Amino acid sequence: MIHNFLDNLWNNYTKITPQASKIKLLLEKEGEVVLNDHIAFRTIDAGDISITYLQPHLFKLGYKVFDTYLFKEKKLIANAYIHPDPTLPKIFLSGIQPNYFSPEVENILLRLAESATLPWKTDLDIFYSGTLWPSITATEYVTLLKESEYAAWVATLGIRPNHFTVNVNALKKYNSVESVLGLVENYGFKINEFGGRVKGSKSILLEQGSTMADTVTIDLVGNDGNLVPAMVPSCYYEFALRHPDKNGNLYQGFVEKSADKIFESTDIK
Ligand code: NI
Repeated sequence: MIHNFLDNLWNNYTKITPQASKIKLLLEKEGEVVLNDHIAFRTIDAGDISITYLQPHLFKLGYKVFDTYLFKEKKLIANAYIHPDPTLPKIFLSGIQPNYFSPEVENILLRLAESATLPWKTDLDIFYSGTLWPSITATEYVTLLKESEYAAWVATLGIRPNHFTVNVNALKKYNSVESVLGLVENYGFKINEFGGRVKGSKSILLEQGSTMADTVTIDLVGNDGNLVPAMVPSCYYEFALRHPDKNGNLYQGFVEKSADKIFESTDIK
């Protein structure tokens, strides 16, 4: 069941993130075996799509919460989940907190969360269900974007993998984040340089880097009530190298300061 679930997630993700399949293939052509360190999701932390409502689906697969994070500036909370089978990717589930935004943004986010209908409440499909609400208006998109790129992303793309992350520890030849970024860049993919190319360091036990997101065309509702196509950032591909802690165990957690900059991989810039 879990492998089927992970395949469905990858298919959903690469459909709007073609760069990820290309980069994976590139690494495989270099003789590497690509394993996933983690898969990240975004949601609105309210109603039936809150973290509390989503996580029991992960528990059923054998995942357990092993850490919780707070991103004050971005107004997010997140849980990280780990599986007893170490070859399976960790899950990083973050949720935006509507009540920390202006009433306009809060109202839009709560409306979307409330209008999400859940026939699949007991079904893992929710993790690749996309938008469970009618298209937002172009005006609402701008309102969201002004306060939070994350809010605009989740309102237009919904619940689906935001990124997959290559486990750099499992690579042989490309054994640093920078070496992977170099390869990826040589093939014309754009690297996220917010806060530096490599976020984190050996001393904090985690180094991460990522591409900039692909774009996808979605529908917004125009002033006349008709749907208008709009290009928005979709998803990016991440690369993580973990270092052993003082007991010799590979660090499995996440680092708020690094993730904060990684979130900007879907910024429109
Ligand atoms: Ni990540």
